[in-house]
Amino acid sequence: MTRTMLPRTLPLALAAATLPGCTGGAEQGEHDNVPPQAFVEGISPAVRDRNKAVVVDPTVDYGLALRTAALKLVGAYPTLAEIKELQAASDPAAVFAKRIAAYLADPRFSFEQVAFWRDTFKLGGTRNLGMLGTVNMDSAPMFAASLVVSGRPFTEVLTASSGTCPTLAANGTFTPANCANGIEAVGVLTDPGVQSQFFSSMAFRRVRWVQETFICTKFPAEISDRKEQRPGGTYYSPWPFTSISGGKDARVDFHDDRSLICANCHSTMNHIAPLFGKFDEAGRPTPNYAVRTPIPGSPPTLFTDWLPPTEMTAWRFGVPTANLKALGAAIAADPDMPRCIATRIWNWALSRGDVVVDQATVPKELGEQLRASFVASNYNLKQLIYDVFTSATFVRY
Ligand code: HEC
Repeated sequence: MTRTMLPRTLPLALAAATLPGCTGGAEQGEHDNVPPQAFVEGISPAVRDRNKAVVVDPTVDYGLALRTAALKLVGAYPTLAEIKELQAASDPAAVFAKRIAAYLADPRFSFEQVAFWRDTFKLGGTRNLGMLGTVNMDSAPMFAASLVVSGRPFTEVLTASSGTCPTLAANGTFTPANCANGIEAVGVLTDPGVQSQFFSSMAFRRVRWVQETFICTKFPAEISDRKEQRPGGTYYSPWPFTSISGGKDARVDFHDDRSLICANCHSTMNHIAPLFGKFDEAGRPTPNYAVRTPIPGSPPTLFTDWLPPTEMTAWRFGVPTANLKALGAAIAADPDMPRCIATRIWNWALSRGDVVVDQATVPKELGEQLRASFVASNYNLKQLIYDVFTSATFVRY
């Protein structure tokens, strides 16, 4: 075993070693003879430190934690000086925390954050659409990263009205810039790369992206106490069944309940989708709906394909959102948003899988703790990253 005993744990270890009967393991009950110091120094650490191992938490490893943190935060192994500084520290927790703070202030952190948000947003690089031109697929990850690096409230990822297509210089500095699509921004919701990447029939893939990225669950998103028996199952959405389009005259029958209940998912989805309908495949805003309805001829989608004409768009039942700006504000105010983003940070730090794809969810209490501290810091995600990387869990393995 090559583990280095870290000094912080030593006083505890020594104190406990003097307790009678605490000899650790096999010789329980045997007499604990403490040998002279010179003899102790002369034997191998593996034997010498055996009784300390009982009271030292064997799962704490600052060396390993430093290596993981360095790779994630600055994209490189810790330097020899950083490793030695930690090994020699009398208070490794403090030295480790100082190092994490330094990594978070390092220019390389900007680039690692862009990589994290590329992963999270499933975006990156550029997309060549031939006649439609080239789309910058990096602006949304860059914008999210810039919010983290600057410590600005992360809610701006859904609410900022300008500067959402920043550039990143080699020195790690972001410079805000407006996106090229010429409209007032709503965080990344109006981002050309997002709109382009998730372009699909009736804008449902854009809706799904928002749900899975910022709320961290798949559809169905709303489950109420309603339990309405239908031929194909139970209808449990809070929305009235007929609040979305359907029936025999509809181009797509979202009332279909014969084999599965479309409305369990689509009651929510159809109230959001029209808000994402007016962007074309290159992510450019269009005056009319640019998405199509998947029926023969693939006609442009009509509002009434989603909703009856009297119905209003909404984020959730009881949360009407007349436009994208209102939608962004509603998602930013949804308590599931900070819980989701904090879970994503936790999973990244601890090398867990994706919260949606791999269902790497966190226990309810932990999720609530992470959410609460994220919100209390005014959505300062850099602070949350610091808290997670210096947490008792991160330095254990
Ligand atoms: C479990 C949730 C769920 C249920 C139930 C459901 N859908 Fe969907 N539907 C989705 C999601 C999510 C998408 C977007 C998928 C994507 O593009 O990634 C979608 C996409 C669609 C699309 C666009 C498909 C395309 O070509 O892009 C149509 C049309 C549609 N659904 C109709 C229906 C109908 C009709 C029913 C009932 C028979 C139904 N859905 C049931 C979640 C659901």
